[in-house]
Amino acid sequence: MNLKPETLKRIDEVITHYPVKRSATLPLLHLVQEDAGYISDEAIAWIAKKLELELINVLEVVTFYPMFKRKPIGRRHIKVCRTLSCALVGGYKTCETFEKEFLTHAGPTEVSPDGEVTVEFVECLASCGTAPVVLIDDVLHEKVDCAKAKQLAAQIKAEAAARK
Ligand code: FES
Repeated sequence: MNLKPETLKRIDEVITHYPVKRSATLPLLHLVQEDAGYISDEAIAWIAKKLELELINVLEVVTFYPMFKRKPIGRRHIKVCRTLSCALVGGYKTCETFEKEFLTHAGPTEVSPDGEVTVEFVECLASCGTAPVVLIDDVLHEKVDCAKAKQLAAQIKAEAAARK
């Protein structure tokens, strides 16, 4: 595992917060994903060893929670809410707009061909009154209709171009 020294330090510190090592599984998974971008097979084995668990104990947690990614995702992460309030006011169309802007084919979690953007559906983002709602990285965007989705996509593309 090639984790940053500060991540390794935080991991060792977090483990001390729990009376039994096993209880640190979720925090460790979050820290590893934050650093590596996803949870690889190697990461699962590493965490299991670190917490003195069987591989299956870690794997079952990773596969239960959809926020853990099993393969690399884009540098930018677009999450479109598909729960009732957002679905009723166009959340699916909003997601389709982002998919058309960035993806070559649709799917539950897809990455743009350049690896820059992941677009996916998520469940309620707790802002139902301002539906449809989209989370881009850590920033919540409200009332994202197709026109606003196109504006946001253009902004993401401009930011990506500026980095090159
Ligand atoms: S249903 Fe979309 S934020 Fe709650």
